[in-house]
Amino acid sequence: MSSKIGKFITIEGVEGVGKTTNIDFIRQWLAQQNISHVATREPGGTPLAESIRELLLSPRDETVDENTELLMMFAARAQHLAEVIVPALEQGKWVLCDRFTDATYAYQGGGRGVSMEKIAQLETLVQGPLRPDLTLVLDIPVDQGLARAKSRSAPDRFEQEKIAFFERVRECYLVRVKAEPQRYQVIDASQSLDRVQADIGSVLERCLGCAS
Ligand code: TMP
Repeated sequence: MSSKIGKFITIEGVEGVGKTTNIDFIRQWLAQQNISHVATREPGGTPLAESIRELLLSPRDETVDENTELLMMFAARAQHLAEVIVPALEQGKWVLCDRFTDATYAYQGGGRGVSMEKIAQLETLVQGPLRPDLTLVLDIPVDQGLARAKSRSAPDRFEQEKIAFFERVRECYLVRVKAEPQRYQVIDASQSLDRVQADIGSVLERCLGCAS
C-alpha cells in the first residue's frame, strides 16, 4: 500500500442509532466543502463484498460458527479495501465508511466473545497499518436504538440477537473510545437530530482544520 492522502472516516454504533441519516448529512457537508469523497459501507461496498454481506445477514437455521463469521467479515473487508478504500485514499479522496473494523471488535469481540487478540491479528493481516483517521461513534441506549431498528424492517441475523448482546456491543465501543480517545468522537445520538448534526458538524470542522 502506498502512503494515503485522503482522510478515512468511519461511522459506528448499535442498530437504530441513525447512521444512515447522519451519513447523508456528512456527505452534504463534505460536498459543501468541495471535498471529493466516496461513501461506502461494511460488510459490503463491492459486488463480491455485498454478496458476502447477504450471506452474513440472512437469518438461517444453521448455527454460524464464530470463526466463520469473523473470517467472512474480514474477507469482505479485504476485497473492499483492495477495490474501493485504498484506491480512493490514494487518489486523495476522503472515504466515509458506514462501519469498519471497530464493528468487528464490538460485534464479534464484545457481542460474540471472540478474543480481541485474534481480531487484532486479522486486522494486521488484512489492513497492514491502515486505520481510520476519525471514527464517529453514535451512541444511544440500546433499547432506544433497537426500538427504532425494529420499526423499520424484518430483523436480520444480527438484529435477532438479545438485548444483552447489544449491551456488550455498546460497551465494547465505549471501552475502545476510552483506550484511544484521539481517534474517536462519541456523539450523543439520543439528542434531537438538529443537535446531533450540529455536534457532527463541529467534529468535522475540527477534522478539516487538522487536514490542512
Ligand atoms: P448495518 O445494518 O449497520 O449495515 O450492519 C450490518 C450488521 O453487521 C450489523 O448488525 C453489524 C454487523 N457487523 C458485524 O457484526 N461485524 C462487522 O465487522 C461489521 C462491519 C458489521
